[in-house]
Amino acid sequence: MQLSKTQLLIFLFLCCSSFGIAAVANDEVSALLSMKAGLIDPLNSLKDWNLPENGAHCNWTGVWCNTEGHVEKLDLSHMNLSGPVSGDIQRLQSLTSLNLCCSGFSSSLPKSISNLTALKTLDVSQNSLVGEFPWGFGGAGGLTELNASSNNFSGFLPEDLGNATMLETLDLRGNFFGGSIPKSFKNLQKLKFLGLSGNSLTGEIPAELGELSSLEAMILGYNEFKGGIPMEFGNLTKLKYLDLAVGNLSGEIPAELGRLQFLETVFLYKNNFEGKIPAEIGAISSLELLDLSDNMLSGEIPAEIGELKNLQLLNVMCNQLSGSVPFGIGSLSQLSVLELWNNSFSGPLPSDLGKNAPLQWLDISSNSFSGELPSTLCNKGNLTKLILFNNAFTGPIPASLSTCLSLVRVRMQNNFLSGTIPVGLGKLERLQRLELANNNLTGAIPDDLSSSTSLSFIDVSRNHLHSSLPSTILSAPSLQTLMASNNELVGKIPDQFQDSPSLSVLDLSSNHFSGTIPASIASCERLVSLNLRNNQLTGDIPKSIAMMPTLSILDLSNNSLTGGIPENFGISPALETLNVSFNKLEGPVPENGVLRRINPSDLAGNAGLCGSVLPPCMRNPVLASRHRNVHTRNIVSGWVIGISSVLAVGLALFSARTLYKRWYSNGSCFGDSFEVGNGEWPWRLLAFQRLGFTSTDILACVKESNVIGMGATGVVYKAEISRSNTVVAVKKLWRPATDIETGSKYGYTLNVDEKIDIYSYGVVLLELLTGKRPLDPEFGESVDVVEWIRRKIKDNISLETALDPSVGNCKHVQEEMLLVLRIALLCTAKLPKDRPSMRDVITMLGEAKPRRKSSSNNNDAYAAANKDQPVFSTSPVHGLL
Ligand SMILES: *[C@@H]1O[C@H](CO)[C@@H](O)[C@H](O)[C@H]1NC(C)=O
Ligand SMILES: *[C@@H]1O[C@H](CO)[C@@H](O)[C@H](O)[C@H]1NC(C)=O
Ligand SMILES: *[C@@H]1O[C@H](CO)[C@@H](O)[C@H](O)[C@H]1NC(C)=O
Ligand SMILES: *[C@@H]1O[C@H](CO)[C@@H](O)[C@H](O)[C@H]1NC(C)=O
Ligand SMILES: *[C@@H]1O[C@H](CO)[C@@H](O)[C@H](O)[C@H]1NC(C)=O
Ligand SMILES: *[C@@H]1O[C@H](CO)[C@@H](O)[C@H](O)[C@H]1NC(C)=O
Ligand SMILES: *[C@@H]1O[C@H](CO)[C@@H](O)[C@H](O)[C@H]1NC(C)=O
Ligand SMILES: *[C@@H]1O[C@H](CO)[C@@H](O)[C@H](O)[C@H]1NC(C)=O
Ligand SMILES: *[C@@H]1O[C@H](CO)[C@@H](O)[C@H](O)[C@H]1NC(C)=O
Ligand SMILES: *[C@@H]1O[C@H](CO)[C@@H](O)[C@H](O)[C@H]1NC(C)=O
Repeated sequence: MQLSKTQLLIFLFLCCSSFGIAAVANDEVSALLSMKAGLIDPLNSLKDWNLPENGAHCNWTGVWCNTEGHVEKLDLSHMNLSGPVSGDIQRLQSLTSLNLCCSGFSSSLPKSISNLTALKTLDVSQNSLVGEFPWGFGGAGGLTELNASSNNFSGFLPEDLGNATMLETLDLRGNFFGGSIPKSFKNLQKLKFLGLSGNSLTGEIPAELGELSSLEAMILGYNEFKGGIPMEFGNLTKLKYLDLAVGNLSGEIPAELGRLQFLETVFLYKNNFEGKIPAEIGAISSLELLDLSDNMLSGEIPAEIGELKNLQLLNVMCNQLSGSVPFGIGSLSQLSVLELWNNSFSGPLPSDLGKNAPLQWLDISSNSFSGELPSTLCNKGNLTKLILFNNAFTGPIPASLSTCLSLVRVRMQNNFLSGTIPVGLGKLERLQRLELANNNLTGAIPDDLSSSTSLSFIDVSRNHLHSSLPSTILSAPSLQTLMASNNELVGKIPDQFQDSPSLSVLDLSSNHFSGTIPASIASCERLVSLNLRNNQLTGDIPKSIAMMPTLSILDLSNNSLTGGIPENFGISPALETLNVSFNKLEGPVPENGVLRRINPSDLAGNAGLCGSVLPPCMRNPVLASRHRNVHTRNIVSGWVIGISSVLAVGLALFSARTLYKRWYSNGSCFGDSFEVGNGEWPWRLLAFQRLGFTSTDILACVKESNVIGMGATGVVYKAEISRSNTVVAVKKLWRPATDIETGSKYGYTLNVDEKIDIYSYGVVLLELLTGKRPLDPEFGESVDVVEWIRRKIKDNISLETALDPSVGNCKHVQEEMLLVLRIALLCTAKLPKDRPSMRDVITMLGEAKPRRKSSSNNNDAYAAANKDQPVFSTSPVHGLL
C-alpha cells in the first residue's frame, strides 16, 4: 500500500508540469492580450480575444496551440491591423510560425522578436515596417522561411542570418536595404530562394553566393551594384531562375553560366553588360526565357542559341548586336517572342522562321535586315505583333499573312517592300493597325479593308498605289486614322461619311483625286484632321464642314476649288488651322474666328479672294483695312497628352497587377489567355501597349465642362476613359507657328514603337508641366525650360515651385506631376546617350512602382511615393519552388 518511489516521482512531475502549463498559458494569454491592446483593429478581427476561461485562447482567431497548450502558430495576416508590433510577442516562446503579412504595421520590429528562436517560418511581408531588420534570427536554428518583402526596412541586411542554416527561403525584396550582400549568406546551404531585388544594395555581388549549392531562384535586380556577375555563379548547379535585371551590373556575361543545366529563366536586361553573348549559353538546354535587352552587348548572336530547343522568349533589343540571325532560330519549336529591335542586324531572316514555332511577337524593327520576308511567320496561327519597320526588306508582303487570324498589329513602314497589298487583311478580325507607309507597293487598296470591324489605323502613304479608294472604306466601323497620301490614287472621294463613326484623321493628300468634296463629310462627328491637299478637287467647299464639332485642321490647298470661303468658317467650333491656298476661290474672306488671325499664306494663290488679312475688296476698303496686319500671327495648336501621373501610375499599377495574377495563376506564362488589350506578354513587355484609349476618346472629353485648369500655354482638360479605367490630363497647347513642325506633332496617341525625338518630347512635357511657353520671360538668362529647371535643381530650389500653378495644388497631383517631371528631365539629358527611348519612358512610368523602392535618392525618376501597392521586383517567381 505504499507508493513506490517511481510512482511518486511520476506523480510529482505531472503535478508540477501541469502547474507549469497553467503558468505559461497565463503568460501567453496576457502576452496576446497586451499585443492586442496596442493594435488598431478597424475590422475588429480580434474581437474574440477576450479574457478567458483557461485554455480558450487556443481557440482565438489566428491562434493555434500545440498539444501542450502553448501557442505555436500566430496568423494575423490580411487583417488590416496597424500599430506597433509589441515586444510581448517574445513571450510566446513556443511559436514556430508567425504570419503578420499583408496588414498595416508601420512600426519597427522589436529587437526582442528574435528571441523567438523556435520559429520555423516568419512572414512579415507587405506591411510598412521600418527601421533595421532585427538581428538575432541567426540563432533560430530551425528557421526555414523568412519573408520580409515589401516593407520599408532600411539599414544593412542582417548578416547573422548566415547562421540560420536551415533557411530555404529568404525574401527581402522591395525594401530600402543598403550596403552590400553579406558574404555570410554563403553558409545557407539549404537556401532555395534568395530574393533581394528592389532595394538599394551596392557593392559587388559576393562571389561566395556561388557556393549556395541548393539555390533554385536568385533575384537580385533593381539594385545599384558595382562590377559584374561572379563567374562562381557557374557553380549554382540547381539554379532555375536568375534575375539580375536593372542592377547596374557591368562587364561580360560569364561563360560559366553555360554550366547551369536546369536554368530556365535568365533576366539580365537593363544593365551595362558588354562584350559578346557567350556561346556557352547555347548549352543550357532547359532555357526558356532569355532577356538580355538594354545592355551594350556587341558581336553576333551565337549560332548555339539556335540550339536551345525550349526557348520561348529571346529578347536582345537595344544592344549593339550585328550580323545575321542564326539560322537555327528559325527552327526553335517553342519560340513565342523574338525581339531584336534597335540593333544593327543585317541579312535575311531565317527562311523558316515561325514554321514550327508558335511565334506571337516578332519585333525586329530598326535594324538593317534585308531580303524577303519568310512566308512561314504565322504558320502556327499565333502571330499577333509583327513589327519590322525601318529595315531594308524587299519583295512582297507574304500572302500567308492575310489568313493569319491572330494578327493585331502589322507595322512594316520604311522598307522596300513591293508588289500589292495582299487581299484578305480586312478579314482578320483582330487586326487593329496596318502600317505599310514608305515602301514600294503598287496596285490597289484592297476592298476588303472596308469590311474590317477591327482596323483602327491604316497608313499606306508614300507608295505607288494606283486605284480608287474603296467606296466603303470610310465607313469601316473602327477606323480612326486613314492615311494614304503620296500615292497615285484616282477617282472621287467616296461619299460615305455619314457612316464613319470613328474617323478622326483622314489624309488623302498628294494623290489624283477629282470631283467634289462630299458634303456628307460633315457628318463625321469625330473628324479632327482632314488633309486633301494636292489633288484635283473641284466645286465649292461645303458649308457644313464649318460646323463639324471636332475638326481642327483642314488643308484643302493645291486643288481647283471654286466659290467663296463659307461665311460660317470663322465660327467653326474647333477649327484652328485652315489652308485653302492655291485654289480658285473668290470673294471676301469672312472676318471671324480663325479667319481673323489666319496666316495670309494659307489663303495665297486664290486670285479672287480679298479682305480680312488679304488686300481689301474693292467694295469695302475701310472695314477691311481695319483688321489688316493685326492678326497675322498664325496660331497653330498642337495637342499633347500629358501622360499624367494618374494614367501612368494608375493604369500601370492596374495592368501590372492583372498581369501578376495572370502569370501566377496560369502557372505557365504562355497560356492561351493572351489577348490584346488585357492579357499581354510578360510584364516586361506589357508597358509597350499600355494606352487603352484612342484620340477619339480623348477628344470626346475636350469640352468646357472638363476644364481643370487654364495655363499660359493652353487649357488643361480632364479626360476619363471609362472603358480602360483611366484618367488622363489633356492639354491643348497654344504655340506660335514657328515652333511646331507642322502636322507631325499632331499626335495624341503616343506611338511608342516609333523612334520619337525624345528630347522634344521631354521639352513638350516640361512645358506642359510647368505651364511655360518656349521663350517665357521667366527663364531669364536660362535659354529654355530645360535650362530653367536645371538651374532650379542646381540652386536646390524645390521643383514644386516649377509646376504649373493653374493645375491646382492638390498634393497628390503635384507629387505625380513631379514624377513625370523627373522623367521629362531624363528625356532632356544633355547627352543623347543618357536619354531613354520612348519605350523606356513608358516602361519607366510603369515600373515606377518596383523601382522607387530601390532608391532613396530623390533625384531619381522613380522616387515617387505611393505605398498601398505591394512592391516588388518585376520578376514573377511562383510555382517555382
Ligand atoms: C474551441 O471551440 C470549440 C467549438 O468552437 C469547442 O468545442 C472547444 O471546446 C473549444 N476549445 C477550447 C479549449 O476552448
Ligand atoms: C484598412 O485600413 C485602412 C486605414 O488603416 C482603411 O483606409 C481601409 O479602408 C481598411 N481596409 C478595409 C478592407 O477595411
Ligand atoms: C530577449 O532578448 C533580449 C535582448 O534583445 C534579452 O535581453 C532578453 O533576455 C531576452 N529575453 C528572453 C526571454 O530570452
Ligand atoms: C513573400 O511574400 C509575398 C507577399 O506577401 C509573396 O508574394 C511572395 O511570394 C513571398 N515570397 C516567397 C518566396 O514565397
Ligand atoms: C554565427 O555563429 C557563430 C558560431 O555560433 C558565431 O561565432 C558567429 O558570431 C555568428 N555569426 C554572426 C554574424 O552572428
Ligand atoms: C554602377 O556601376 C559602375 C561601374 O561598375 C560604378 O562605377 C558605379 O558606381 C555604379 N553606380 C552606382 C550607383 O553604384
Ligand atoms: C566554383 O567556381 C569557380 C570558378 O568558376 C571554380 O574555380 C571553383 O572551383 C568552383 N567551386 C566549386 C566548389 O565548385
Ligand atoms: C498557338 O495557337 C494555337 C492555335 O491557335 C493554340 O492552340 C496554341 O495554344 C497557341 N500557342 C501558344 C504558345 O500560344
Ligand atoms: C520600286 O519598284 C519599281 C518597279 O515597280 C522599281 O523599278 C524600283 O527599283 C523599286 N524601288 C526600290 C527601291 O526597290
Ligand atoms: C514607406 O515608404 C513609402 C515609399 O517611400 C512611403 O511613402 C511611406 O510613407 C513609408 N512608410 C513608412 C511607415 O515609413
